[in-house]
Amino acid sequence: MADSSSVTKAVIPAAGLGTRFLPATKATPKEMLPIVDKPAIQYVVEEAVAAGLDDVLLITGRSKRSIEDHFDRAYELEEALAAKDNTDGLAQVRESAELATVHYVRQGEPRGLGHAVLCAARHVGNEPFAVLLGDDLIDPRDPLLTRMIEVRERFGGSVVALMEVPAEQVSLYGCAAIEPTDEDDVVTITDLVEKPVPGSAPSRWIIIGRYVCDPKIFDVLRQTPPGRGGEIQLTDALKVLAGDPSSGGVYGVLFRGRRYDTGNKLDYLRTLVVFASERPDLAQEFVPWLRAFLESRP
Ligand code: G1P
Repeated sequence: MADSSSVTKAVIPAAGLGTRFLPATKATPKEMLPIVDKPAIQYVVEEAVAAGLDDVLLITGRSKRSIEDHFDRAYELEEALAAKDNTDGLAQVRESAELATVHYVRQGEPRGLGHAVLCAARHVGNEPFAVLLGDDLIDPRDPLLTRMIEVRERFGGSVVALMEVPAEQVSLYGCAAIEPTDEDDVVTITDLVEKPVPGSAPSRWIIIGRYVCDPKIFDVLRQTPPGRGGEIQLTDALKVLAGDPSSGGVYGVLFRGRRYDTGNKLDYLRTLVVFASERPDLAQEFVPWLRAFLESRP
């Protein structure tokens, strides 16, 4: 049965160590790595805001101060830009501070994604909420989160975003066993496995980093033991909800749109090239240069 309480809050875990990007992430959070000229995390906050969620809770950890500074005013910089009549720069500097009401809570120890989400319990209270993982960027032309919120409003329960990937990639993700519903892009999730061992996956539909969670997830997370990698897994808590119809169940939205991964070097580079190639102020010079560069390679 659908729950009428609406989704207004977004939770964005940003406490990871970023070990795949060392040494860049020794003193800079990986969430602040730029995609062309905007930090990755700003795209994620913009996505939440575009879906109507302007109460954003960032779960941070040590060495994440620059994230807080990014979403705050920067008076000295603003004055310097104003003195130079740099109105574009000024608008860009102010934009990230005015985007949303951003709150912070620190995850004391890195005990996994499930634990990070549990750190949001007090702020979220007894309402459904969205979780957005910063390693995945969703193209704003494909409004996935808006669709997930609609699905929560119609079906109730919790909702995860699913994408179909080649069989050899499934073991890198959380994977879902699914059954159809009367809506083409919505499935009922009957089981979930975090990073299944190759050959044992229930399907090729994997969880991408977008969730709408029923607040019942918090009680489940409190009792979820460490799973894969010795970490408290969000997938394990959702699996419990999927097996308990009284929790409202778990649904999947089948996403066939554009997703960009920024969580590892190779995908990060691909994402940079795509974004630069689509930027009106850069594409005209960048794309012919890229083409010529590739043609010049042996
Ligand atoms: C996390 C989740 C996993 C999900 C993935 C999406 O894994 O645990 O279920 O498929 O995000 O990016 P991580 O990438 O943090 O290992």
